[in-house]
Amino acid sequence: MQLTKDNVIIELGNIQDPDLNLSLNELNAIKSVNLTDTAVQVSVELYQPIQWVYSDVKSAIKNKLNEIAPNHIHEIFIQEKDTPNAGKNMLSGIKNIIAVSSGKGGVGKSSIASNLAAGLSLSGAKVGIIDGDVYGPSQPTMFGVTGEQLMITQLPDGTQAALPIEQFGIKIASMGFIINRDEAAIVRGPMLAGYFSMLFEQVYWENLDFLVFDLPPGTGDIQLTLTQKIPLTGAVIVTTPQEISLADVRRSITMFNKVKVDVIGIVENMSYFIPEDMPDKKYYIFGEGGGKRIAEEFGVELLGQVPLNMAMREGNDGGMPIILSNADSHQKEVLKDITKNIVKGIRKLNYEKYKVSSPIIEI
Ligand SMILES: Nc1ncnc2c1ncn2[C@@H]1O[C@H](COP(=O)(O)OP(=O)(O)O)[C@@H](O)[C@H]1O
Ligand SMILES: [Mg+2]
Repeated sequence: MQLTKDNVIIELGNIQDPDLNLSLNELNAIKSVNLTDTAVQVSVELYQPIQWVYSDVKSAIKNKLNEIAPNHIHEIFIQEKDTPNAGKNMLSGIKNIIAVSSGKGGVGKSSIASNLAAGLSLSGAKVGIIDGDVYGPSQPTMFGVTGEQLMITQLPDGTQAALPIEQFGIKIASMGFIINRDEAAIVRGPMLAGYFSMLFEQVYWENLDFLVFDLPPGTGDIQLTLTQKIPLTGAVIVTTPQEISLADVRRSITMFNKVKVDVIGIVENMSYFIPEDMPDKKYYIFGEGGGKRIAEEFGVELLGQVPLNMAMREGNDGGMPIILSNADSHQKEVLKDITKNIVKGIRKLNYEKYKVSSPIIEI
């Protein structure tokens, strides 16, 4: 076969995007191919976030070029497709906003949210987290920044903004930085709305790949208002396997459907317990298979099952999400897989949202 630019485009065009199960050709992803006698230069654009598929796609291209152009120098550039940002004003620099929600408190919503934020940042993404729980803010504890307060600064355009607290490279804003628990206990109605608008309209996030939003537990008025006001990319629902929690998942899914927010999937937390001294035993303390049943019932993804784990609890209390620590590798793998599955869900949503039926650009 004679090597031509057209062959290169055809051959590379057959490579699949691992998340979307569509070829680079179908995704109109190959932006340019330059072929000289000695080199081939390829430029590809993928739907964001690309951090998790970058190396897979790059090596697939590399392998194909090794096959069809073994004697050429290969230069491969992979970039994000330009996708307009999520929101207006302070949220305008944020590419993806993920709500983490649960029907009731105590299921591990905040633990999953903190590990998700930390897991996303491990791949080099810029990440922020908002702790929207007024009555039980826990992100300050989970990131070891209790007692901090948001500092007000003046932006170049003259507006005043609050700077998020930074820990492990993650930007954090919490209701806990604005009001303390004792004050919060008596806050209602318009005052509450005021605090929320402070979190969403006055915190200066700059540019983020992801903002993880730890929603207050429940499916009441606060949650409805917040999910409507914030331009969410999608929602993750956290539950335990018990029937009593699953009833709340139904309510959560109904709420998100009502406000037209896509559900990325369900995380089942506290799924089982493996004793450290009996690693081949697995105890389903809160029952088995609840998350899977409810995911099937609603046709949504089961993103993963997180064991009950002492190191995870210690990380939460000790100010470092377990995913960042040296502790328990099985627990971390589970959480990393969940992060990856959530990213995959977001890429699918971004593809659906931004795909254009425009003709393939002549290159
Ligand atoms: N998988 C888990 N293993 C061990 N402890 C957990 C796990 N998930 C959550 N916890 C602990 O359970 C408690 C409640 O979790 P939290 O994330 O605060 O729940 P929520 O935000 O839903 O109220 C916390 O003490 C937390 O450290
Ligand atoms: Mg919480």
